Parts: sequence; structure tokens; C-alpha cells
Amino acid sequence: MSESLVHRDAAVIWHPFTPQQSQQTPIVISQSRGAEVFDQNGNSYIDAISSWWVITHGHAHPKIVTAVQQQVAKLPHVMFSGVTHEPAVRCAEFLLHRAPHYRKVFYSDDGSTAVEVAIKMALQFWHNKGQARNKIIAFENAYHGDTFGSMSVGARNVFSTAFERHLFQVKTIPVPVRGQEEHSISAFKTILQEENIAAFIVEPLVQGAGGMLMYDVTVLDELFEMAAASEVIAIADEVMTGFGRTGTFFATDQCRHKPDIIALSKGLTGGFLPLGATLCTSKIHEAYLTDDRTKTFFHGHSFTGNPLACAAAVASLELFEEENTMQNVSRIAGVFQSWIHEFEKLQGVHDVRTMGGIFAVELKPEQGPSGYLNPIAERALQFFPEHGILLRPLGNVLYVIPPYCIQPNQLQIVKDTLMRFIKELQR
Ligand SMILES: Cc1ncc(COP(=O)(O)O)c(C=O)c1O
Repeated sequence: MSESLVHRDAAVIWHPFTPQQSQQTPIVISQSRGAEVFDQNGNSYIDAISSWWVITHGHAHPKIVTAVQQQVAKLPHVMFSGVTHEPAVRCAEFLLHRAPHYRKVFYSDDGSTAVEVAIKMALQFWHNKGQARNKIIAFENAYHGDTFGSMSVGARNVFSTAFERHLFQVKTIPVPVRGQEEHSISAFKTILQEENIAAFIVEPLVQGAGGMLMYDVTVLDELFEMAAASEVIAIADEVMTGFGRTGTFFATDQCRHKPDIIALSKGLTGGFLPLGATLCTSKIHEAYLTDDRTKTFFHGHSFTGNPLACAAAVASLELFEEENTMQNVSRIAGVFQSWIHEFEKLQGVHDVRTMGGIFAVELKPEQGPSGYLNPIAERALQFFPEHGILLRPLGNVLYVIPPYCIQPNQLQIVKDTLMRFIKELQR
């Protein structure tokens, strides 16, 4: 039965990020629970990367299942202009309770659209004020999504080459990883002297898709402070870092100077349904408080504020309090700390880094292109599922971002399998 599904899939489906000529046979997943997913033959796989970093409490958490079931019978969907509903209001109240620096929540569909909203909100802020600020500063090596605006503020690489002529230009500064802090700050200072800078966008503390690159909060704080002094709107793309991943609820909780806008998605619904949310301060919102209707923020999606997604988000946000989820993140963070030394000792390892519930091992690149297309990735895509683990590397960077319910024995299996893979690569 599963084989026929594989054939039917091959006949009709074009999977994301998947070469079409030599694609791997997909695993047919039929169920998921906790930190595991199960294929149709009953084999289990530990979801070591939380299905692209979206699963927080675990797969199929009963509280979120019930919340969605109850909501679907009452109000599965309604448009979101001229009407409202309880799940959307409760979710927004919850988010603003968690992020009290912000005043308003604007819903969208996913991480890319949450970033698009953030960029457009910032650019129109200056337009509404009648000021000609239109340039954006971004980090090198960034990833903010696959739509045109979010690609424009991201790195120019294999993901964007085909579209380069259609992307808007941004000013970039080096990522302030260890040793690069001063370089990054001085580049920022120079660009801030230009007159037309509208906004600065950043993945706070960790660059996810760019290879789990990590940098210190003090330098991020300094960049936010400098942006504020130049009245440049700071945007934190917390799509990956939000909901506990870096050890605090939001990565920017660690900052003294808060950005003006944060973009959220992924873990927002606990990984159940797609939903994006862009939070802005009163200052941003006030630029839209006008009788001039041409200054309206003309942005929306058919499924903006979808009640099912919002109900899942409310249940997930409640779980963070009821289950004291952040304690689980600390437990995982402790385990990852204890792994560092053992991985550093392995042959072929270039760097080991961890923050909160994120653990990454950067391997010395094998022959072939470095980065995302490095051949290590292909070998890993074969190896890990064969050993009962879902883990997709970023080129030569192997990483683990588990659901917070992952058990010590499951973490041990992930660690042993990672080590075995690295050792086998050396043979
Ligand atoms: C930091 C960041 N921003 C935006 C996105 C895009 O999110 P989505 O894939 O939901 O569009 C991602 C996805 O990985 C991300 O890591």
C-alpha cells in the first residue's frame, strides 16, 4: 500500500527543495506522536529537527488536538476584515502578554508572509510620514523565507540566483559571529550615516537556514541601540528563534533594547497549522492612525487570522504555562552542553555550537561545493532515516532542534547516531 502511494506521489507531486531528476523515495508517514513519527509499516523515526522547527510540545499533543477539534465544529473559517472571532483575539492577547513591548498583532499565513508584512509595515511607516526612507539593512548569510520580499532581504545564494535581477537591493553587514563583532558594528555605523535607511532586519542570536550560526546578545543589543538612535526601524525575524528555541521564550527577550517589529510563525501553533503573526509597537501603529484612507496598510490573505490556526496557537501558548515547557528547554540545553566536548574531539568536525534547544555540528566540507549543496547532505539524507531519525542537514552543518517533549533515551539515540555518521564519513 505504501509503495503504491510512493508511485502515486511520484506521478503527481513536486516536493519543496527537492531535485526533480534524482529525488529520494519519500517515506510515507501515517502517524505522529510526541517526538516521533511513524511510517505505514509501523517503523518509528525520531523527529530530530521538529519537522522544520515547527513542533514545540510534541506531535499530536492531545490538548491542541482537542482545541482544533472543538474549533472546527464551531467556526473553521471566516474572512478577517469587518469581522473578528475569539481565537484570534485570545491569541493576540496571549502574544502581547508574552511580548509586552508590542501593541498590535497582524496575522498572516507563515514565516515568509510574516516577514513580508514586517518589511511592508516598516516601509509604509516612512511613506505615511512623508519621509523618503526606503533602504533596508540585513545581515549577510541571512534567510528570511522564499517569497520575493523575504528573498530580497536574504543572502544571495543558490536559493535566489535565478531571481536575482528581480530582488530589491539591500545593504548588508557581516554576521557578528565571534571575532567579527567590531567589523559588523563598524559596517553598521557607516551605513547608518546614509540618509535613507528605513529598516534593519535580523534573525536574532541564531541564523537558522544559513547554517545555525550563533552570535552574542551584547552585539545584537548594540545594533538595536544604534538603530534606535538613528530612528531606523528594527525588525527581528523570530520565525525560527521564537517559542523557546534559544532558551528564552523569544530570542529578543534577552535584549535590553527591543526591536520595533517581530515576525513569528513556525512554533506559534505548536506546529499544528500554518499561521504567521507580525507584532509592532505603538510607534509603528500610530503612523497608520489617520483619517487619510490612502495610508491604510493594504495587506491581507484569504486565510488571515484563520480560527483553527488561532485556536491551536492559544492551546499551544497555554501549554507553555501549564506544562512549564521552558523547563524542558533548559533540560535539553543542559544535555546539548554536555555533548560539545565529545563532538569537538571527533575527526572531521570544524565547529560545534549550541544555544538553548539548538545543537549544531559543522563538518569540514568534503570535496564539492561548500554550503547547502555539499555532498555530505546527500549522504546524511540517506543515513539518518535508515537509522530511525528524521534529520535534514544544512549542507555540511548537521543540527538537532528537537520537540521539547523528547526523552533522554531518544536524545541519546540521536547523539549516538550523529557520532556514528560523522565517524563513518571519515572512513
Ligand atoms: C528565520 C526565518 N524566517 C522566515 C522563514 C520562512 O518561513 P516559512 O517557511 O514558514 O515561510 C524561515 C523558515 O525557515 C526562517 O527560518
